[in-house]
Amino acid sequence: MAIERTLSIIKPDAVAKNVIGEIITRFEKANLKVVNARLQQLTREEAEGFYAVHKERPFFNDLVNFMISGPVFIQVLEGENAIAKNRELMGATDPKKAEPGTIRADFAESIDANAVHGSDAPETAAVEIAYFFGK
Ligand code: TYD
Repeated sequence: MAIERTLSIIKPDAVAKNVIGEIITRFEKANLKVVNARLQQLTREEAEGFYAVHKERPFFNDLVNFMISGPVFIQVLEGENAIAKNRELMGATDPKKAEPGTIRADFAESIDANAVHGSDAPETAAVEIAYFFGK
């Protein structure tokens, strides 16, 4: 299986809950390695650019306001099958539908404050890693 890299963001709700460490522990236990990371307060422009694919969606403004409501912890995870593995650890977008034991089931309150972001494909992973960490 291929060694991949994926972008993970611990969102403002989870940072405020003080569970950065608990979430990273889940990645580590699944053999995903943090190879780059920083805590950052996103500007509105940075959040809008990151979620540009959702620009026309009705939730876009609320999503951007949420993402700038406090600092986020942005990291690059590396490991076998990292993109799908991270999505599995995260659980469904809506925490009410997320499998028990997933990050969103355990730490997220709602579909709009859902604790984590993870790239969904190799192409988006490459774009998102470059967006925050350069080439
Ligand atoms: P999406 O890319 O569909 O989900 P995921 O984060 O699981 O890849 O949506 C991006 C974010 O947009 C999602 O994490 C939370 C927000 N969002 C809403 O607030 N309401 C919604 O109905 C959807 C689909 C997403």
